[in-house]
Amino acid sequence: MNHLLDLASIGMDIPRKILDMAKLYKTQQKGLAQGAPLLGRTLGMIFEKPSTRTRVSFEVAMTELGGSAIFLDANSMQMGRGETIEDTAKVLGRYIDGIMLRAINHDTLLQMAKFSEIPVINGLTDMSHPCQALADIMTFEENIGSIRGKKIAWIGDGNNVANSWIHASAIFGCELFLACPKSRMPSSNAIEWSKKQGANIVITQDPTKAAKNASAILTDTWVSMGEKFSKDPESIFGKYRVNQEIMNYASKNAIFMHCLPAHRGREVTEEVIDGPNSVVWDEAENRLHIQKAILTWAIADKITL
Ligand code: CP
Ligand code: NVA
Repeated sequence: MNHLLDLASIGMDIPRKILDMAKLYKTQQKGLAQGAPLLGRTLGMIFEKPSTRTRVSFEVAMTELGGSAIFLDANSMQMGRGETIEDTAKVLGRYIDGIMLRAINHDTLLQMAKFSEIPVINGLTDMSHPCQALADIMTFEENIGSIRGKKIAWIGDGNNVANSWIHASAIFGCELFLACPKSRMPSSNAIEWSKKQGANIVITQDPTKAAKNASAILTDTWVSMGEKFSKDPESIFGKYRVNQEIMNYASKNAIFMHCLPAHRGREVTEEVIDGPNSVVWDEAENRLHIQKAILTWAIADKITL
């Protein structure tokens, strides 16, 4: 079963194949994809948290692949009032062909996959956001070229997107510097897994060390959905704000990436996110092409590309 629970769970070769397929999809015209590989297929999209990009890109991807998608707000499902994940998974498998789940807890995703007879795709959990990292790598390679051996700097919270980048660094062979506050470190399991695969990961509390000669500077919100801090986030993350001074440490043509939604003046200055080196709109667009490739890999009977 082609579940996409994490980049670390699908083997070292599949992510590159998904990327290649996404690049091909991007060259096709808007509208129905050649061969309509998901004709008559349905994706259920369960959301326990809000979304703009993930929801719209998955739904449009299904439509353009010849299938359709159903938006399922977890709170208005029986799951929201106590029906078990096991029963939900078993029932959904009798109607639809794949589940995309945005879950508050990663364990909900693992439970869903355990009991599901159809593929389950991680649309973000507290632990990871693999679809985002794939779209990010695609965006990097479009703008800079092969990511192998390139230095990437993640500056800010050691969150779900950072964890998927940690997995990606092992799979795609880039050097990953993460500058995160000591109290907001990324997952030690993700680091351990990636280092076992030979990844080159450096953790620091010095954003300038991470940014120096990097080909890309990445950040994300300081406060992820559902999180609460007893302290003002500024006091934890203030020195990790990505501003022009940080960008100046990076390589001359370095790009700025952010998965969005962004908070101008907090994790990134307006000058940087709206500046000439920002590729955030390409990054958002590439979610669509990546979702098409993921869905084709997970759901189509045979890959037509
Ligand atoms: N980047 C991302 O996943 O955005 P949404 O929360 O809008 O889906
Ligand atoms: N880290 C952010 C990503 C949003 C796409 C969050 O979890 O809210």
